[in-house]
Amino acid sequence: MGKGFYISRKVGLGLLLTAICAFITIIALSIAYDKEKKKNQTNSGDGQTDSSSMPTTPTTPSVPKEPWDRYRLPDSLLPLSYNLTLRPVLEPNADGLYIFTGNSYVVFKCEKATNLVIIHANKLNLTSINGHLAMLTAEEHSAPIVEKSWLVPETHYLVLQLQSPLTVGRTYVLQTIFQGELADDLEGFYRSEYIENGVKKIVATSQMQATYARKAFPCFDEPAMKAVFNVTIIHSHGTVALSNGRETGTVDTDFGRVTTFEPTARMSTYLLAFIVCDFAEIQSTQRNVLIRIWARRKAIDDRQGDYALNVTGPILEFYERYYNAAYPLSKSDQIALPDFNAGAMENWGLVTYRETALLYDPIISSTGNKERVISVIAHELAHMWFGNLVTVRWWNDLWLNEGFASYVEYLGADYAEPTWNIKDHIILYDVHRVFGVDALASSHPLSCAEDAVSTPAQISEMFSTISYSKGAAVLRMLSEFLSEPVFVKGLSSYLNAFAFGNTVYKDLWDHLQQAVDSTPDVKIPHTVHEIMNRWTLQMGFPVVTIDTRTGSITQKHFLLDPESVVDRLSQFNYTWFVPIKWMKSGVDQQQFWLLHKRDTNNQMIASGNDWVLANTNVSGYFRVNYDQGNWDRLLSLLNSNHQTLSVMNRAQIIDDAFNLARAKIIDTTLALKTTKYLSKETGYIPWESALRNLNYYILMFDRTEVYGALKSYLKKQIQPLYEHLKYNQINAIGIGCKMGVEGCKELTRNWFKQWMDNPAHNPIHPNLKSTVYCYAVAFGGHEEWDFAWRMFKNATVASEASRLREAMACTQVPWLLNRYLEYTLNPSKIRKQDATATIQYIARNIVGMPLAWDFVRARWRYIFEQYGRGSFSFAGLINGITRRFSTEFELEELKKFKVENQDIGFGSATLAMEQAIEKTTANIKWVAENKAQVLQWFTDESA
Ligand SMILES: *[C@@H]1O[C@H](CO)[C@@H](O)[C@H](O)[C@H]1NC(C)=O
Ligand SMILES: *[C@@H]1O[C@H](CO)[C@@H](O)[C@H](O)[C@H]1NC(C)=O
Ligand SMILES: *[C@@H]1O[C@H](CO)[C@@H](O)[C@H](O)[C@H]1NC(C)=O
Ligand SMILES: *[C@@H]1O[C@H](CO)[C@@H](O)[C@H](O)[C@H]1NC(C)=O
Ligand SMILES: *[C@@H]1O[C@H](CO)[C@@H](O)[C@H](O)[C@H]1NC(C)=O
Ligand SMILES: [Zn+2]
Repeated sequence: MGKGFYISRKVGLGLLLTAICAFITIIALSIAYDKEKKKNQTNSGDGQTDSSSMPTTPTTPSVPKEPWDRYRLPDSLLPLSYNLTLRPVLEPNADGLYIFTGNSYVVFKCEKATNLVIIHANKLNLTSINGHLAMLTAEEHSAPIVEKSWLVPETHYLVLQLQSPLTVGRTYVLQTIFQGELADDLEGFYRSEYIENGVKKIVATSQMQATYARKAFPCFDEPAMKAVFNVTIIHSHGTVALSNGRETGTVDTDFGRVTTFEPTARMSTYLLAFIVCDFAEIQSTQRNVLIRIWARRKAIDDRQGDYALNVTGPILEFYERYYNAAYPLSKSDQIALPDFNAGAMENWGLVTYRETALLYDPIISSTGNKERVISVIAHELAHMWFGNLVTVRWWNDLWLNEGFASYVEYLGADYAEPTWNIKDHIILYDVHRVFGVDALASSHPLSCAEDAVSTPAQISEMFSTISYSKGAAVLRMLSEFLSEPVFVKGLSSYLNAFAFGNTVYKDLWDHLQQAVDSTPDVKIPHTVHEIMNRWTLQMGFPVVTIDTRTGSITQKHFLLDPESVVDRLSQFNYTWFVPIKWMKSGVDQQQFWLLHKRDTNNQMIASGNDWVLANTNVSGYFRVNYDQGNWDRLLSLLNSNHQTLSVMNRAQIIDDAFNLARAKIIDTTLALKTTKYLSKETGYIPWESALRNLNYYILMFDRTEVYGALKSYLKKQIQPLYEHLKYNQINAIGIGCKMGVEGCKELTRNWFKQWMDNPAHNPIHPNLKSTVYCYAVAFGGHEEWDFAWRMFKNATVASEASRLREAMACTQVPWLLNRYLEYTLNPSKIRKQDATATIQYIARNIVGMPLAWDFVRARWRYIFEQYGRGSFSFAGLINGITRRFSTEFELEELKKFKVENQDIGFGSATLAMEQAIEKTTANIKWVAENKAQVLQWFTDESA
């Protein structure tokens, strides 16, 4: 899936927003302007939250269970192909229920003699055939007689007990006839609604990953159970049906239109997709591949699909070259859906997206929206080969699939938009971001054992920041130390060897090793396997400390809270094989490896008076610390000549320093000093890094006296940036904001007022909308709020709707916030897909935080039942609400909440709860230890 909930990718803009206007707006300008970042984005593609979660309880290997009590299918039967017919009914039946009916034939082969047929089926009503829930036949011989058939709801099985065993080597056919609900639950075959020209429209669509195909039809619903699918969809006249294969025929009959599709390639069930809608499309053809973009008619008419169509061809072309393998299918459909849980889903040949992740309106959308679109498309299309053509055998290796797509999405997007420097952004959106969770004692290794993941809840917990972003970071490091040509050589050989099949992560290491072995000039100190085990089998990452006086280099497991206790043992004692790229006084040096805890005498790096910078461009997954002398040289370089360093390196120095200070490895003031040069910085990435880190200070101190001094300092640092931007065509709004709070207030209000007076004409520049909307609502009252609400409800461009939805959380009026919270649980007001993100926006607001916390506590049971199970955004909800927690009182409340809701549980947020407690504890300590010093520093520096 695409990384779904993009909320955490965003800077603390929302927080800052409620603060002083001038300071804020200028920041917003610099960022919004330069590149209004992938806002509201979790990542690029699929859905994911900020928590590093992980199955905490492996399935208890309890005493011999019946085969149907186990969550994993037995290995006795293997599906070969299916004939599947589905008929969704887009009108409610007499009971007000939307349903679909279907029938399926699955041809399977018996691999091991058994008298049981066990196949997945969940929430389906099966019609009995000859007295049983399914009918078993055989093609050229007779099939055993069915003795008994029943459903097992807990493990999602349909079970047939046979009178005699199936014969090894023979194939059989199982037929089922079934009916299911086309619910609005965003899972399996489901229903989405939207209004067009005042008319309610219904779409039938699907989301199978990870374990929902079984909710659409009985199937062997595991990724290694690949098969060919012959799909037929019966739908009403005037609608179009789509699936993974290209349409081969459409026949109008009395009972509807029958669309058939070419047989799919051999594929996993989680990649299937079925859609019935009356959307429009635009298309092009590239080397015999039909490329289509589908969306609501109005969106297509408004040309919102054009950008996606423009970039899809180049991105596919890039991957064909990069992977050295042709696009495996005859068509590539991409469709924007009004209701969609994750960011996007890589169904093979029919990729589904949230509207904001596929549609781009040149007039209404911002540059940030555009970057999001291209990143998500690049992520999903990367999966067409890596993930879909070659699929990991089981969900425990999900990190390889998602980490890989999360890495190469930057390469694909860069190819299509070469002037954007998109590749640099990986350090912000993946590397530095995941450092945050992977530096906690409660983190977990990337890789886990197959048998530790079996229930749907455990599978859904695999979709974590660790899988996506750490996966991306370590694969990027691997590509960097092998060099890209060797990496792609191994990759392409892996894809060719396992096309249409399944793998475990080690298979990739084997193919990369072969590429290394056949390239004489590439030398690595251990095998790919041995090196990568250090990064995938133990959690966390090292901080490498370089003493430029002596040449000593050491490594140590980096923990954000140095007092936290690491319970998890590592077979490698938390030491890594660390590839170190570095530079000395501006000149790149040869990469070397740190293979032990300590390397005492590296004369190369004993630098005298030269400055040394290690881990250039954050190509390795680790942090770096230096002796004080070298830190001083780096600080002075930043202050005198920062452009000697790349933007990534500038951002790295800031991010490392702040985090080393959090971990008490260096002084807090040393970290703060890295921000002194910012008055000269115009780059987006360093500013974003600094703001993210300072955001922690804002969160911790925005309810204390430190905040005044902090604001003054930042205002001072930002002033020159603002001056700089003024010469860049920037708008009047910024100039007004420079005048101070009052001026800014007036200005944003006026812009917004103009829009309120003439809703048909919005005068605000797209790149400034997020900021202006938020201010106008924050400074305004219920009139502004209600206007924003009306515009939100009327918006025909999804990114516009989502900006407004976010801005409404900026109000400072408690009753408006409380009413908005109530709206989040009413799907006719806020779509289910947006509910948890909206609550998080409200929690980001200093006034909204306690309200959101009360709200969630009071309605935990309801929220959990509606949104809890297996939903990615759920852990994010806990994270979002507790980010500012830094008092004993809040810690007590959090613990009480945990105890009081033990019976209901926390589902996919179980780990997030633990992390929230761990983080709050650390925050309390940090504030106690740093408050005085920080207050002093900001006071001195802002004088
Ligand atoms: C599906 O179509 C393929 C290709 O025509 C065919 O080989 C296969 O037998 C069909 N599957 C079923 C269940 O009939
Ligand atoms: C699947 O459908 C095809 C085409 O309609 C048909 O020829 C074939 O017999 C069907 N397979 C089974 C197993 O029913
Ligand atoms: C399935 O059967 C149950 C029990 O008869 C019924 O309540 C439910 O509505 C049915 N669901 C569908 C989708 O037909
Ligand atoms: C798509 O490409 C066409 C032709 O190059 C160009 O005119 C158009 O502006 C592009 N559309 C978008 C939204 O980028
Ligand atoms: C880890 O430490 C143990 C005990 O000190 C030692 O026996 C083992 O060799 C170490 N393993 C590694 C990989 O360094
Ligand atoms: Zn993905």
